[in-house]
Formats: sequence, structure tokens, C-alpha cells
Amino acid sequence: MSAQATERVENGKVALMIGGGQGIGEAAIKRLYRDGFRVAVGDLNLDTAQKVAQDLGGEAAGAIAIEVNAADRDSVYAAVDQTVEKLGGFDVIINNAGIAPQIDILDVTEKDIDTIYDINVKGVIWGIQAAAKKLRELGHGGKIINATSQAGVKGNPGIPLYTSTKFAIRGLTQTTAQDLADDGITVNAYAPGIVRTPLMEKLAQDLARSNNQPEEWGWEQFTKNITLKRLSEVEDVAKAISFLAGEDSDYVTGQTLVVDGGMVFH
Ligand SMILES: NC(=O)c1ccc[n+]([C@@H]2O[C@H](COP(=O)([O-])OP(=O)(O)OC[C@H]3O[C@@H](n4cnc5c(N)ncnc54)[C@H](O)[C@@H]3O)[C@@H](O)[C@H]2O)c1
Repeated sequence: MSAQATERVENGKVALMIGGGQGIGEAAIKRLYRDGFRVAVGDLNLDTAQKVAQDLGGEAAGAIAIEVNAADRDSVYAAVDQTVEKLGGFDVIINNAGIAPQIDILDVTEKDIDTIYDINVKGVIWGIQAAAKKLRELGHGGKIINATSQAGVKGNPGIPLYTSTKFAIRGLTQTTAQDLADDGITVNAYAPGIVRTPLMEKLAQDLARSNNQPEEWGWEQFTKNITLKRLSEVEDVAKAISFLAGEDSDYVTGQTLVVDGGMVFH
């Protein structure tokens, strides 16, 4: 059993993370495990999901890996079913999977739109739908938590498609919080700023390359606009997800929790 496993106190609840193999999702699902949840690490990449589950001690310790494609409705439903079968319950879903291609508005193709909307928007819809139906079937409430972004609060230049998907998530969160309240379900979102993850690394590299600058210059451009003058670590976001998944947020619904070191204010 891992050191983390010996320190934690079980809270009797189960959380499923869609997109938990690396980055924010990995940090957050590890944090939820420490909080006492049994956890399902869902990802398109089964290898990384398995590694995360193994880091937590594996199935015997209450941490399983599930291969799931957020963009595929059946796959998301199957992931929720598998979570219940293997972990004996289901209380929280985190719809974290997302991609952030940087495409100029004048170059956007129909395929670009389909690719990003299938994951960033449809993926969240399937997650909300599958989770709400399962919670209803289980006869208790739960928590649905969706990934948006500071770019979903204030439009960011250069990433029109990504920004539009993240605005959509706030709309879905506000609406479904009202639609699902009678089921005892809360729906909230988290809006990270600039987090050092593989996703942001690619954006920093692209920005630097297009300006003939070293990668660090790309990161510096992002840091300039942060009030706290540092990039976000994945753990900063994991703390916010921990709050939204736990009972301290029981009276919070329909909200977007901005965790960006002070980039957007609303
Ligand atoms: N990194 C940032 O600075 C930042 C800022 C704001 C918002 N976000 C949002 O936070 C979320 C996580 O971002 P991250 O930086 O950790 O990303 P990441 O690319 O590091 O990790 C995303 C994970 O999702 C998985 N994934 C991708 N497509 C999937 C699919 N179709 N089905 C299942 N899993 C899939 C990937 O395999 C990966 O493990 C995203 O929704 C992103 O838009 C990130």
C-alpha cells in the first residue's frame, strides 16, 4: 500500500475523473484519493490512467483505471457503469478532458470545429448526462464538476475555438445546476489560468516559435498578466476541485470557481 493510502481516511464516496491520466486531472484525482474518495481514473490513454491508479495503490486500495473517450457517448456511459461495478458506488464526476489547439479564426475548418467541440463540449454533456442518470438510478445526489478556463470567462485572442468551447461549459454548468437541483445534484465548474501542463507547454512552445523566441519567453508572456506573478501549479487547481467535490461546497451550485492567480475578475 502506498504511503498516501495509509494516511487517508475513507469518506465512503466514489469519484470518476474523465481525463485523469496527466496534468490537472492527475493531480486532482490524486488529491481526491487523499481526501478519502475511492477513485476511477478515466482517460483516452489507458497507460497513463493505469500509472496514476497504480501510484495510488491500485484496485485493492480503491483506485482503478478506465479507458474512456469523452467524445463518445457510449464510452462515457460505460465508464460510469464500470465505476459503480468496480468501486461499489458513484458520487462525483469531473469532466476534465479537453484539448486546446491554437487555430487562427481565418484558418478554422469544419473538421477543427468538430474535433474540439466533440471533446470539450460534447464530452462534458455526455459526462453530465451519464452521471445524472446514474445518480438518479442510485437514488442519491452527487456532484458534477466541469473544466472551463479563464478563457471561458474572458475571450482570449488567438484561441477562438477553445475560448468558445469554454464559454459553453459555463452555460451548461449554470443551466444544468438548475435542471438537476431537485435530484440533489450540484453542478459547478473550475476555471484554471495558466497551468504548467503538457497542454500549456504546447501553447507556450507555439507562441515562442511563432515569435522566434526560446520556450521560456513563451511562458514569460503568460506570466506577465497574472496578478500573483507566477504560473499555476496543477496542485492549485486540484485544491479547488477538492473543495467542489467535498461537502464544504454543498451550498454552491451553478458557479465557476476561477483559479488563475488573478487574471480575470468577475
Ligand atoms: N493547462 C492549463 O493551463 C489549463 C487552463 C485552463 C483550462 N484548462 C483545462 O483543464 C483541463 C485539463 O487540462 P490539462 O492542462 O491538464 O490537459 P492535459 O493535456 O495535460 O491533460 C488532459 C488529459 O485528458 C486526456 N484526454 C484528452 N482527450 C480525451 C478524450 N477524448 N477522452 C478522455 N480523455 C481525454 C488526455 O489523454 C490527458 O490525459 C482541460 O479541459 C483544459 O482545457 C487547462
